[in-house]
Amino acid sequence: MDLLILLMLCCCLAYFLIQIIRFIKADADLTLLWAERFGHSPESKFRGSVVWVTGASSGIGEALCYQLAKLGARLVLTSRREAELQRVKKKCIEISGLENNDVLVVPFDLTNISAHKAATDKVVEHFGRIDVLVNNSGRSQRSLCLDTDLDVFRELMEINYFGTISLTKHVLPHMIQKKKGKIVTISSVTGFVGVPLSSGYAASKHAVQGFFNSLRIELGCYPGITVSNICPGPVQSNIVENAFAEHANQKVGATADQSYKMPAERCARLILVTAANDLNETWISDHPYLLICYFWQYAPTWAWWITGKIGQKRIQNFKSGMDADSSYFSKKTS
Ligand SMILES: NC(=O)c1ccc[n+]([C@@H]2O[C@H](COP(=O)([O-])OP(=O)(O)OC[C@H]3O[C@@H](n4cnc5c(N)ncnc54)[C@H](OP(=O)(O)O)[C@@H]3O)[C@@H](O)[C@H]2O)c1
Repeated sequence: MDLLILLMLCCCLAYFLIQIIRFIKADADLTLLWAERFGHSPESKFRGSVVWVTGASSGIGEALCYQLAKLGARLVLTSRREAELQRVKKKCIEISGLENNDVLVVPFDLTNISAHKAATDKVVEHFGRIDVLVNNSGRSQRSLCLDTDLDVFRELMEINYFGTISLTKHVLPHMIQKKKGKIVTISSVTGFVGVPLSSGYAASKHAVQGFFNSLRIELGCYPGITVSNICPGPVQSNIVENAFAEHANQKVGATADQSYKMPAERCARLILVTAANDLNETWISDHPYLLICYFWQYAPTWAWWITGKIGQKRIQNFKSGMDADSSYFSKKTS
């Protein structure tokens, strides 16, 4: 009997240790990793779908387009820089069986709300429907609140919030008409965590989270239409170079340290798993950011203590002209 109890205890301990090792190695929340292992694979979901990706000219959006092209999705590519979108289109066609007509380039500035109707009409005229809208265009911020012009806070809301919800409002009626569609929005960990040097960015992503979490409930009467909010932590892209600094006409510009960030390809794959499984909210991040997300969700008092400590270090780094996060998370040896 004693031996049996000992055996059971050993099994429990082994199981517990395996789960801890899994958590240490995790690069996304546990529901997303579960869906990646046991849920629908993106391979079974996107062939022939019409997927509109905003912010397709670089970073996460660009990586997403290449993976969708390989899965056989037909694509709409949007951002401001048409030449960059044409480059992405060319590569999408090269790496997949897609033809010229399967990839539509629709360049516009997301803050130009008056362009959204014509752009949506153009997509519907070309493909006849929109199956998935990936709201990915966005800009970040690296500046202290007190040194930052109000215009920067306005611009961040215009791009990340108003532009995103306006395009969604134009696309939704087409999905409702077909009784089918996925709205996938790339929010951020800063959509629910406060981050120094990004007060305006965090505010805009909190707004995005609040909007889409409410919209999801309103759309409950259309079971074929789903709303997924995706919250990445640091991902390799041009986000820091393109971030607003103190003034609205100023970009950070400096090349940021990418060594501690998740590759955009891995982030894109996890975005596709989220969309394939219609998950409401997912977190995509390596540790320690992932651990911080869990603290924010389940132990806010500890979370405040940790983010307070890390936050002060970020501010010190920023003031001394370094990448805000690099000194303590960098994987570079030099
Ligand atoms: N990288 C990260 O660490 C990270 C973490 C969390 C969340 N995110 C979110 O992920 C999304 C993609 O960012 P990323 O990391 O891939 O950065 P990125 O490389 O800078 O890409 C941003 C994309 O947004 C487009 N864009 C910017 N302003 C626009 C505007 N006014 N109108 C239309 N398109 C515009 C850019 O294209 P054009 O310049 O051609 O317009 C570009 O394609 C953003 O929403 C960002 O907030 C990123």
